[in-house]
Amino acid sequence: MKQIRIFDTTLRDGEQSPGCSMNIKEKIDMARQLEMLGVDIIEAGVASASQGDFNSVRAVAKELRNARVTSLSRALTKDIDSTWEALRHAKYPRIHLLIPTSDFLLDSRLKKSRSDVLEQTAEMVRYAKKFCEDIEFSAEDATRSDPEFLAKVFEAAIDAGATVVNVPDSIGYALPEEYGNLIRFLRDSVKGAQHVLFSSHCHNDLGLAVANTLSAIQAGADEVQCTINGIGERAGNAALEEIVMALKTRPAFYDADTMIDTAQIYKTSRLLSTITGIKVQPNKAIVGESAFAQESDTLPPGMIAGSLPYMSMRPEEIGLTTNKIVLGKHSGRNAFNERVKELGYNVDFDIANMLFKRFKELADKKKTVGDRDIEALVRSILAQEIPKRYTLERYVINSGNTITPTSSITLNSAEGTKVEKVAIGFGPVDASFNAINKIVGRAVKLEEYSIGAVTEGRDAQGEVSVKISSEGATAKGYGLSTDVIEASILAYINAINNLIYEGTREEQ
Ligand code: KIV
Ligand code: ZN
Repeated sequence: MKQIRIFDTTLRDGEQSPGCSMNIKEKIDMARQLEMLGVDIIEAGVASASQGDFNSVRAVAKELRNARVTSLSRALTKDIDSTWEALRHAKYPRIHLLIPTSDFLLDSRLKKSRSDVLEQTAEMVRYAKKFCEDIEFSAEDATRSDPEFLAKVFEAAIDAGATVVNVPDSIGYALPEEYGNLIRFLRDSVKGAQHVLFSSHCHNDLGLAVANTLSAIQAGADEVQCTINGIGERAGNAALEEIVMALKTRPAFYDADTMIDTAQIYKTSRLLSTITGIKVQPNKAIVGESAFAQESDTLPPGMIAGSLPYMSMRPEEIGLTTNKIVLGKHSGRNAFNERVKELGYNVDFDIANMLFKRFKELADKKKTVGDRDIEALVRSILAQEIPKRYTLERYVINSGNTITPTSSITLNSAEGTKVEKVAIGFGPVDASFNAINKIVGRAVKLEEYSIGAVTEGRDAQGEVSVKISSEGATAKGYGLSTDVIEASILAYINAINNLIYEGTREEQ
């Protein structure tokens, strides 16, 4: 079977989509999980775009030990210099160069001729090659470029030392057969094609990103670029989980496989949703809430819901546990730690202690604690893993349909003082956020707020994600509690701590 390389661009193209920006710590958490998932290449950002992006790419490059780390760079010497500076600590670095090749972009954006592009390609690949052995070259808007010209550009890139050539369908315009034919044409006609890998990069504007990617694989692509949950610019990129599961489910047809540990798919998808606060649509293939649900009364008599004849995959293949193993307040530390490990979390001693404490508190409030509860606990503890300027001491809410909601909040500050403030609002959550704003003494605006239940049932934990902004900076926060007001307050405080932490990092 042919081994297809998975190039994950969740932290670059994915992060470029509205609401999906991640701070440095979130990028590191996500990169670690992507490495656990088994992706071959992680695109960590555009190092030359800003100091913040540079720091994130460098941090991810230093962190990973198995996956190749890359950063996108315009084909300009100053961008290549800073890209390499960010990547040079990676165990396996790759510089990813980009030049537009369609006449549309040459005329409207680049204001350059085709021969300028050919020259710049050769010169910049050669320049980047002085720093890094592994160079990927992308021809932006390849699918609207003249194929003969595209072939010439790739030849120039290969001649100058490119190791991978990428064929982006940048505006999501191509159709599966057409895209496959383009890959086949390039593979067959580009001089030196046999010495490099061919890569696909498909956008989902017509809902065809995965179909186009699979067509590219059939046509000989060696690497596919994709994102978790299909996030990305506009309608998104090809979804990693859909490509991987299509290959796994239909091996006889594709005769191709990946190094992905599919049992990590669900967890990776959930982590991304938690970090970005963007929920997966319920009927999304593979990772949507109802992707493996089957109403038993629509089945013929005798058929059991969730049984294989009515599914092309089993939920366990993507690591979707049925939440059947439950722990309760009498479960001991060993049983709990064991379950955390089985769920794929390798947490250190301190975090394991914190987790167990939170588990015991939860088990006192909730009859049974299932896998989804444990995952949410892990996420909430990881979200709190930053220096905390404020922590919650206590809150008191007075609310009702005939009175103005009032919230009294007491926070502990890092200096060891307790500060209490009271505020009113449109509802108890708004009143609480107003009280917190008074304590932190800055104008903080709530940009996004989302709330969900971790499990079914009236004793379910509520999880809240918020995004706030203040003085031009933004930050996100996550909160978890069986009380949704408390979850909201915790998410807001977490976002404020993130905002302050990011601010101090940027000053350093
Ligand atoms: O869509 C696109 O063209 C890209 C390239 C940078 C690969 O994201
Ligand atoms: Zn893209």
